[in-house]
Amino acid sequence: MSSFIVVGHKVCTDRGFSLNDLTGSTGRLDVLLRCVNSTFMLSNDIRRDLDLYLIFLGEPDPPRTLHFVGNELKYLNPDERSTAALVKNALMKNAVHDWTMSTPGIYVSRRGFADVLAELAGRRIIYLKEDGASISDVNLSQNDVFVLGGKNDLTPDEEKIIQEWPDKQKISLGPRSLHADHCITITMNALDR
Ligand SMILES: C[S@@+](CC[C@H](N)C(=O)[O-])C[C@H]1O[C@@H](n2cnc3c(N)ncnc32)[C@H](O)[C@@H]1O
Repeated sequence: MSSFIVVGHKVCTDRGFSLNDLTGSTGRLDVLLRCVNSTFMLSNDIRRDLDLYLIFLGEPDPPRTLHFVGNELKYLNPDERSTAALVKNALMKNAVHDWTMSTPGIYVSRRGFADVLAELAGRRIIYLKEDGASISDVNLSQNDVFVLGGKNDLTPDEEKIIQEWPDKQKISLGPRSLHADHCITITMNALDR
């Protein structure tokens, strides 16, 4: 099963965010919501053979990670607002280090980037970055873990964790800087092929 990890450096951990303002005061939660859509949504179907970790590092109480598990997901619709409501439910849980189910297929934890990677030990990390090797030159595996920034690039500290990972590859989807959700769509298409 392929996994995606998207880091939202400023995405708020405040359960009280407004569903009417997903782009502003949430620290660009909308970017992560579109990543959910790109990861799971097919035309009239949902991809079941994937999972997605969204890492929330914004105020007031970071970190929080939401884990979306494709083969368990229920109540996921294509619109951002209803996915935002599922996120709000997850942030309302009294999160601890262990995963707590919020709604079917969505789990929440106080884990951060390093903790999430640690639980994926033994798998290859594919770090999506503009200056990596061309995706057309790399054989992707269905067991890879794809890591990318949300609105912003990974920090040097986060990159260092990847650099120290035993099995990793930096891969470019092209020379232009793309939106995170578009990166997921292109990567999924490469995996499908
Ligand atoms: C919106 S971009 C981040 C900001 C962007 N680097 C900039 O300065 O405009 C989100 C993330 O998508 C990934 N990404 C963007 N373009 C890419 C590309 N051409 N190839 C591979 N990954 C890319 C990177 O992980 C990046 O951190």
